[in-house]
Parts: sequence; structure tokens; C-alpha cells
Amino acid sequence: MAYLGVNVDHVATVREARKTYEPEPATAAAVALQAGADVITIHLREDRRHIQDRDVRIIRETVPFGLNLELACEEEILDIACESKPDQATLVPERREEVTTEGGLDLTAKPNRVRSAVDRLQMAGIPVSLFLDPAIEQMEKAAELGVAAVELHTGSYALASGDSQQKELNRLVSAGAKCVELGMKLHAGHGLNYHNVGPVATIKEMRELNIGHSIISRAIFTGLHEAVAEMRRLIDQASG
Ligand code: PXP
Repeated sequence: MAYLGVNVDHVATVREARKTYEPEPATAAAVALQAGADVITIHLREDRRHIQDRDVRIIRETVPFGLNLELACEEEILDIACESKPDQATLVPERREEVTTEGGLDLTAKPNRVRSAVDRLQMAGIPVSLFLDPAIEQMEKAAELGVAAVELHTGSYALASGDSQQKELNRLVSAGAKCVELGMKLHAGHGLNYHNVGPVATIKEMRELNIGHSIISRAIFTGLHEAVAEMRRLIDQASG
């Protein structure tokens, strides 16, 4: 059965819209855990558009296990990660002008920056996951870096429909099989929602699904507890 990682960045997005003290991401993390989340995911972006440094500190204190910190390969953010010691660090690409993380890291182009970030995090005792597009060569490069896990970018799958969605699902299945064959844990995320999560959750050996936007969107109408519990139910059903 796949773990559910709930990304609470959007709670901070609402707070930052007014630069005030509410809503509190740490409270959202506590509710999500009570409702069946296994992992809390936060992304400390270089531009601090949602999660702030104090959120990382408070959530680290109040989420004693299962904290996944997403970050880019930036020295300042790596310093914070090494100090706060999340249970997992997921390295992602970051561009200032993007609305959300648009693609996976490209390990075939310039792996040196990623390699030194992986080394720093691992030296601090933090298991590393890499956010990658579902391509066999990316899995091979990830294994060469010695990371614990790969998170497959499900954005193209989520945007596709009909036959092309099935093709995207096949890419996820093949890359996932390669990931596991090479000894890394298999995670996935981005754009997953209540309608498309099922087939991804059924992928054999799927260990963790990281979901933010759809859960926080539904929570506006149902409350966060119900939104997380419903996603938990769908993942359990799909993964048996
Ligand atoms: N995984 C990673 C690496 C991400 O960057 C994001 C978006 O912050 C997610 C999962 C969650 O994506 P969504 O908000 O579309 O569910």
C-alpha cells in the first residue's frame, strides 16, 4: 500500500496572500496526519512564495516522523535542510517564473549540481529522493547517484486524456519498474487528484504518492480531514 504524502504548501500560499498569521501550515499538517496521511510534504522555495523558514522549523518540531522537504539544489536551502533534518529530502528543479514545478530534474544534462546536493544531504544523514520525468535513462542516472528513492513526475499523465493518458501511464509503469529493479523506492506526484489517482496507486511497488493542490482545493468545501480521508480511501482501494 502506498503512503499518502500531503503537501501543505497551499495553506501557506493563502496565508502569504495577506502576509498574516493564518491559516497555519503546521495545523494543517496535524489534521492531515490525524486523517490518515503518512507523510507531510513542504517545499521551501528560494523565493519563499509559500512555505517560510519558520514553517520548516515548526513543522519539523510538530511532525516527528514522515517529514518530506522538497528543495532545489541551492546552497542556502541545502543549509536549512541539513540543519532541520527532515526524514526525507526531495530534490526538485526550480524556476522563479514557474507557477509550479514544471518538469523533473534532468540528470543527463548537468548532474554535478545534483550530485553535490545529494552528497551534502546524505552526509547529514538525510535520505534523498529525486523528482524525475518517467524515463529509463533518468532512472539509470539516479541509481548511479546512489539515492534512496525516485519520485516520478505525474504531470503529463494528469494533463493527458484517453489514449494518450494510457500511454503516459505506461511510461510511469516502465520507469517505475526500472526504478525498483535498480534498488530505489518508487514515489510519484504532481497533478494527482480524486479522479486520476487510482491507476497510479495500483502501480506495483508504489511506495509514496505526494498530493497537494487537489486535496487543499477540496478541503475548502469539505474540510481538510474529510479531503485527506477520502484520498486515503481511494489509494487504499486502488492498491488493495
Ligand atoms: N511532488 C512534487 C515534487 C512537487 O513539486 C509537487 C508540487 O509542489 C507535488 C508533488 C504536488 O503536486 P500537486 O500540488 O499538483 O498535487
